[in-house]
Amino acid sequence: MFKGALFDLDGVIADTSVYHFQAWKKLIQDNFQQDLPSQLEEQTKGVSRADSLQRILDYLQIEVDTAKFQQLMQQKNEYYLQLLQTLTPDNILPGIKELLRELQQQKVKLALASASLNAPVILEKLQLSDYFAAIADPVAVKQGKPAPDIFLAAAGGINVTPQDCVAFEDSIAGIQAINQAQAFSVGIGSSVELAAADLLFAQTKELNLAQIETSYQQWKE
Ligand code: BG6
Ligand code: MG
Repeated sequence: MFKGALFDLDGVIADTSVYHFQAWKKLIQDNFQQDLPSQLEEQTKGVSRADSLQRILDYLQIEVDTAKFQQLMQQKNEYYLQLLQTLTPDNILPGIKELLRELQQQKVKLALASASLNAPVILEKLQLSDYFAAIADPVAVKQGKPAPDIFLAAAGGINVTPQDCVAFEDSIAGIQAINQAQAFSVGIGSSVELAAADLLFAQTKELNLAQIETSYQQWKE
């Protein structure tokens, strides 16, 4: 069995990735009276708050000064936190709790590798904090996803080499980050977008530990 499991949060553990994009949409509507096209959702998944805002402004060809940029980031987070107010364990995606339990039974160490500054609060609300031996701090890493830093930090947090870890992601940037960290990447989502994943499941409810372990062992050889 592999020794460590590294988890993305938004879109893997909980259905919060849609809230992020709802908050971005409201922000852009309120500030610039523009409707954000849904194709931008994929480009902002897994990407830090600042990098997401930059991508959105670049797409809309809007330039702002540093003060406005900071204000927009803060306002987006306020909208996001409003959406999180009703978050409960019911927002855990199907199959995830069972997978976390199985991993725990197999003595696999768990670490969180989320770009979100809100991750610790969200894990608390989902009542999942106790499963995780480490939460990598996105502020402490040099580069966000698609750079490997956050996954290297998560593996370091549980003292497991990345090659002995399986990591779970729903975003393009996240799969790139795992692959660069040289851990085994499990994608959850579309085979078009996540084609670079070592193993792919369409939805969290299809995640299967036996299948993951078999693929991981083949990959390791
Ligand atoms: C990632 C999300 O998990 O966290 C991104 O997929 C988000 O959409 C990023 O931008 C940062 O989150 P936060 O909560 O710090 O703004
Ligand atoms: Mg995600």
